[in-house]
Amino acid sequence: MSTLIKNGTVIGPTGPYAADVLVDGETIAAIFAPGQAPDGPEVIDAGGKYVIPGAVDAHTHMELPFGGTAASDTFDTGTRAAAIGGTTTIIDFAVQRYGEVVQDGLAAWHAKAAGNCHIDYGFHMILGGVDDDSLKAMDQLVGTEGITSFKLFMAYPGVFYSDDGQILRAMQKARDNGALIMMHAENGPAIDVLVKQALERGETDPIHHGLTRPQELEAEATSRAIWLASVAADCPLYIVHLSASKALEQVKAARDLGRNVFAETCPQYLYLTLEDQLGAPGFEGAKWVCSTPLRSKHESHRADLWQGLRTNDLSVVSTDHCPFCMKDQKELGVGDFSKIPNGIGSVEHRVDLLYQGVVDGKLSLARWVETIATTPARMFGMYPKKGIIAPGSDADIVLYDPNGRTRISVETHHMNMDHSAWEGWEIGGKVDTVLSRGEVIASGGEYTGRAGRGKYVPRSLSDYLV
Ligand code: URP
Ligand code: ZN
Ligand code: ZN
Repeated sequence: MSTLIKNGTVIGPTGPYAADVLVDGETIAAIFAPGQAPDGPEVIDAGGKYVIPGAVDAHTHMELPFGGTAASDTFDTGTRAAAIGGTTTIIDFAVQRYGEVVQDGLAAWHAKAAGNCHIDYGFHMILGGVDDDSLKAMDQLVGTEGITSFKLFMAYPGVFYSDDGQILRAMQKARDNGALIMMHAENGPAIDVLVKQALERGETDPIHHGLTRPQELEAEATSRAIWLASVAADCPLYIVHLSASKALEQVKAARDLGRNVFAETCPQYLYLTLEDQLGAPGFEGAKWVCSTPLRSKHESHRADLWQGLRTNDLSVVSTDHCPFCMKDQKELGVGDFSKIPNGIGSVEHRVDLLYQGVVDGKLSLARWVETIATTPARMFGMYPKKGIIAPGSDADIVLYDPNGRTRISVETHHMNMDHSAWEGWEIGGKVDTVLSRGEVIASGGEYTGRAGRGKYVPRSLSDYLV
């Protein structure tokens, strides 16, 4: 069946242009100058709307066991919420725990996702223990499983932490097999000292989560990761959830030297702050406990991150969607901030939150689309299947209404959370219609997709590999 998306303004990585988009089955068949398409297909009128590629969220944690509990969105609830918000592909993190066979961890993630997803999905692999077996497994995952990126942690000693020797070995392996190393760059052992000292002083409120993770320890780890990658024959490196000005400086300096270093940030670091959210009265701040943490509004982090997005020192905006309810989950840390499960849920809101950057004059339309769709698809080997409106690409398409308005609330969101980190936020735009592989799965606020329609997408090597 073919459909013509007519009268809209397509946003490509080079900017907006008027065009009609012909969808045939699951893919885009052709792009016509306005009014030039042949008659016949069913028409979706996109007059007054932006026609953008379905967004790609390259950092989610559905059902992640973490902090003594598990992230509250399943692949069913989380991908449905993502779809409603204009995200048509996620890349979730499969986990190998320390001592576990990597392939078993991957199989467990396939079992969680299969038959439950509303949109297409891929996996990165978290390596919880770098040793001879897991290094060998990296080759197999790249070669036959479509997993071409691996996350390592310089934080969370005793949970996911890898030491510098392990990191170097994994980077050397990635340099050989073409994989991308994704790094959680915070100095975990030093943070643990600060956490212990804070608790001994009786500092137990959520804000101390942020105060014990100073930006210097993010910058130091970012710099160390960059130098380790340099030693590993310039292994490509992608810093996840970058939150702080000093960490961004490290990335920028490396990129200015021509190094293959990339970074993402997340909406929470672009808008929210240590004082206003993490420092909310009582235990309220627990809603915003995540790592890396929210940063001080008295420093220039948010302005620097927006600038980094414009200059491409930050290439991607992902959510790091890792939702926990207040009840029974965040509450585990009442009286001890270090026991609050780390994570914020935003998978439904990233397209809107970044569009607000366009409204506020901080991002161009083209850069909006690049950072939420095109670059993540390219960075993680899904392009041109995903991330672009072009003939031959999957017909993952969002009609975005710049004259609409979105008000975010726990009363109306679809994520499985008992609160919203974005309660009351107003966006000057609205997701109108969402197509996933040619099928309209959301329109005018009505969801029409179904669990199980989403397919696993094996990924190629990154487009940014040299
Ligand atoms: O707070 C966070 N970011 N939770 C998810 C795990 C991670 O480190 O990405
Ligand atoms: Zn992380
Ligand atoms: Zn994460």
